[in-house]
Amino acid sequence: MYKLFVKIRNWKIRTAYRYILKPILFKMDPEFVHDRFMIAGRLIGGNAVTRALNSLMFNYQSKMLEQEILGINFRNPIGLSAGFDKNAILTDVMPTVGFGFEEVGSITGLECAGNPKPRLWRHIDKQSLRVYYGLKNDGAEVIAKRLKNKKFKFPIGISIAKTNCAETVDTAAAIADYKKAMLAFDDIGDYLTINISCPNTFGGQPFTDPVRFEALLKGLLTSIDHKPVFIKLSPDLSKNELLKLLDIAERYTVDGVICSNLTKEHSEGQGGLSGKVVAEKSLKIIKIIRKYYGDRFVIVAVGGIFNADDAYRAIKAGASLIQLITGMIFGGPQTISEINVGLVERLKADGYLNISEAVGKSR
Ligand SMILES: Cc1cc2nc3c(=O)[nH]c(=O)nc-3n(C[C@H](O)[C@H](O)[C@H](O)COP(=O)(O)O)c2cc1C
Repeated sequence: MYKLFVKIRNWKIRTAYRYILKPILFKMDPEFVHDRFMIAGRLIGGNAVTRALNSLMFNYQSKMLEQEILGINFRNPIGLSAGFDKNAILTDVMPTVGFGFEEVGSITGLECAGNPKPRLWRHIDKQSLRVYYGLKNDGAEVIAKRLKNKKFKFPIGISIAKTNCAETVDTAAAIADYKKAMLAFDDIGDYLTINISCPNTFGGQPFTDPVRFEALLKGLLTSIDHKPVFIKLSPDLSKNELLKLLDIAERYTVDGVICSNLTKEHSEGQGGLSGKVVAEKSLKIIKIIRKYYGDRFVIVAVGGIFNADDAYRAIKAGASLIQLITGMIFGGPQTISEINVGLVERLKADGYLNISEAVGKSR
């Protein structure tokens, strides 16, 4: 009965989103729409009644989707990817939308206004967003204060990056900036993500260079107690570049890898592309990681995951967790619940009792 209710509910919301809300929203400037959603999300999340109503509209739970990974309990594998909730103001509402976890940020050592507008575009033909925000965020100090002593309903990842400014182009200054952000959150959140793959910042992606990457990990992870650590990679890395970075990550006891960030390989203009154009690239990286490192790294798949087939394919390729943004914007907020329902159906069809049993089973 529960699943039937959820399926009918999801179908109604999907139809309303597709034929009524989306045509209106997609006529407006994407950053304007995003900012309005942040205000609405904060309001809904701030009140127990609206949270309960939201949950009734969007949530779905199943024991088959629960996993403990790196000591963290995930009630389902679908997370909100970094960049949607840059300033960590949606942590109360996102559990009611059905997400199993959320990554806030990316957060930088200093406050950052980001690149000049316009900096967000839709590419409907490609089912993709072009992003040129340039790590706009309130900075580590303010965001840490916002989250301090808060009780979260699901796991929170803290994504850190270096402040987008000329002063952090120098390697030592950049590492100090990452460290400032990391230390501000030492007792906040469940895992840390070191984002080395933002395509839109001053000085490019210096830490995809193995020597600088090693210096970064040494600066951040040695002699400091820290929570489980993930590295967020670019989808544009060659196999050689990827393996070099992972060899270093392995030595510095990095726990997991997030594959992947926005792609720079396109000719649409400035910024990086999300969505469907990232999907195959991410999957390729996941397969390489599984082939060369087995289950040494926890893999989080992100990029162009729009439905349960996309998510299950990534899980079977080796991902334990999934993140998304673009799929929700193109498909509607019920997408998370639809994916979770679809995953349960696929697990049952394949004879698995829990999602963890399906991880990496496509080889
Ligand atoms: C508007 C927007 C802002 C983003 N900002 C960040 C960011 O600050 N840090 C980060 O690691 N990734 C950022 N990303 C990349 C996403 O986290 C994700 O890796 C990428 O969009 C691919 O997933 P998707 O196809 O599901 O959107 C951003 C993506 C979008 C669409």
